[in-house]
Amino acid sequence: MQFIASSDLTKTDILKIFKRAQYFKNNTHKKHSLLKDKTIGLLFFEDSTRTRVSFEMAAIKLGAKIVFVSPKGSSISKGESELDTARVLECNGVDAMVVRTSNEMIPSMIAKTTKLPVLNAGEGTIDHPSQGLLDAFTLYEEFKGKLNGKTIAIVGDVKHSRVAQSNATILSKLGMDVRFVGPAQFLPTRKPEGVTSMHKKCDDGIDGVDALMCLRIQKERLDADEKLPNLDRYFKDFGLDHKRLELAKKGAKIMHPMPMNREVEVTSKLADDPKKSLIFEQMKNGLFVRMAMYEQLMKKPHKTSAKKTAKKGKK
Ligand code: CP
Repeated sequence: MQFIASSDLTKTDILKIFKRAQYFKNNTHKKHSLLKDKTIGLLFFEDSTRTRVSFEMAAIKLGAKIVFVSPKGSSISKGESELDTARVLECNGVDAMVVRTSNEMIPSMIAKTTKLPVLNAGEGTIDHPSQGLLDAFTLYEEFKGKLNGKTIAIVGDVKHSRVAQSNATILSKLGMDVRFVGPAQFLPTRKPEGVTSMHKKCDDGIDGVDALMCLRIQKERLDADEKLPNLDRYFKDFGLDHKRLELAKKGAKIMHPMPMNREVEVTSKLADDPKKSLIFEQMKNGLFVRMAMYEQLMKKPHKTSAKKTAKKGKK
């Protein structure tokens, strides 16, 4: 098993991860040794704070050691390819690789050239499976396991957001309606799979939803011919604050994958309001979900069941 694409995950896979994430969350005091004597190679070709720290901490909590490589200070700065860099880690004996890149298809290309487990830690504008899983797990906890029929509005620069894509894929598998909301400039031209509807008017898009996720304008992913909108205007039209949140269902909470631009996509007052915001719960859950992902990928096959299968085969 590899963790490359959100679309590869079945509902059963997702719920299995949630179950184990919940276990790790409920047992933070316990020492885990699943990855004792293992080394995880973290290949971060693109900057990160949350995903990097939480994949590192998840590995450490499970007893592993870490080797970290980023463009600064490695031979990537001399032009070495991402694939060759992955081979360096493999030749030096890492047991799994976590890959973040702005280049689409690199995680799957690495996965094809190695027998090691590979985890996608964010890939261009197309996928961020671990973020999608931790967001879904946060909602799963919030709605006490009942996601079927609930609606979420994902608001802002949806077009450049891999998080929006992963959430649409994963949340729709769990029975949620996913709305994409943003200015025309930031909406995909065609409704992607997993998305129920797209809205160019924020107040229409968030009307009656059970949860809202705001997104950062991803300046670094704008094409050369794409202009940054006027930020005051953008906040007026799409920024979330306590007043706008009243359009959603009573009790609805806001989320954000972070990093966030305070007072651009959301007010600080709302983001930091523990009664209305799940943002810091998402951040905490990243650790437990990534522990569960490592476990899923790296646990040894159960000896008894392997023996049973062998015996069955002989009969
Ligand atoms: N949410 C997320 O991917 O954050 P980082 O870019 O800091 O890892």
